[in-house]
Amino acid sequence: MTATATTTGTTTTTTTTTATGATLPLATVRGLQVAYGDGPLVLDGVDLDLFPGELVALLGSSGSGKSTLMKSLTGFAPVNGGTVRVAGHDLTNLRHGQLRRLRAHVGQVFQQFNLVGRLSVLTNVLTGGLHDAGPLNLAGGFSSAHRRLALELLDRVGIAHKANDQARTLSGGQQQRVAIARALMQRPRLILADEPVASLDPKMSHAVLDLLHDIARQDGIPVLVSLHVLPLALEHSDRIVGLARGEMLVSAPTTELDADRLGVLYAGDEDDEEGDDHDAHVA
Ligand SMILES: Nc1ncnc2c1ncn2[C@@H]1O[C@H](COP(=O)(O)OP(=O)(O)O)[C@@H](O)[C@H]1O
Ligand SMILES: [Mg+2]
Repeated sequence: MTATATTTGTTTTTTTTTATGATLPLATVRGLQVAYGDGPLVLDGVDLDLFPGELVALLGSSGSGKSTLMKSLTGFAPVNGGTVRVAGHDLTNLRHGQLRRLRAHVGQVFQQFNLVGRLSVLTNVLTGGLHDAGPLNLAGGFSSAHRRLALELLDRVGIAHKANDQARTLSGGQQQRVAIARALMQRPRLILADEPVASLDPKMSHAVLDLLHDIARQDGIPVLVSLHVLPLALEHSDRIVGLARGEMLVSAPTTELDADRLGVLYAGDEDDEEGDDHDAHVA
């Protein structure tokens, strides 16, 4: 792949394989343009490759287009131009049924965990497998094979002992682990995590990112994680991509980057109203 870093005003281009040695991307975005309704382009000419086995950190100020880029990878963004390919499919040309089947194998993790609080941890994980043929037995309960798998996954994320607790009784970090187990229940080809640690304290943030990085490596799938805090991105990712006002200004292996070179993503933020967001990235 070609990694291009435009972080200092000059463009450095290095040709390399990925940090993990994979050569074929699972997802490829080229020249992506997105606009909501009659509004302006919120993504303009974005390129992105996601390779099996790597954790890619997606950086950018609030409003730079991170969530929109994530949505484009599940066919939920209003695409005006360019292409989005995932697992060999051109998302802009898929029929609804095909798109639904593809989405079934994209695990998603959100800032607010999105669990059903009154249901047990185990049931929350089991719902991740609902798209699969046959998770339910004749009595309408989940099959024992699915229960076993869900328990194995809870064990993997370190909270099997909470399986029967109501999800809402868990801490934020524990809830995010449940959400990750639920995503794994989908047997994902790709995991998209949109600000997964924005509601967690620093210790929990490190633990959740460690877990996501382990999953990327062990399961050989790409994990795309949007983050606000630069040191977290620098510590936990194989590659960093960075958006500013809808354009991809940074795309490079993490080892080639540092906070100074990433500053270009936040240049001009001082003029914005969102001062607290600007503070967040250096926290
Ligand atoms: N559903 C929507 N309708 C209209 N505009 C939207 C919608 N979602 C996002 N936007 C706009 O698109 C731009 C990028 O937003 P978003 O992708 O959410 O950025 P980020 O996740 O980096 O904060 C922002 O200007 C935002 O206001
Ligand atoms: Mg967002």
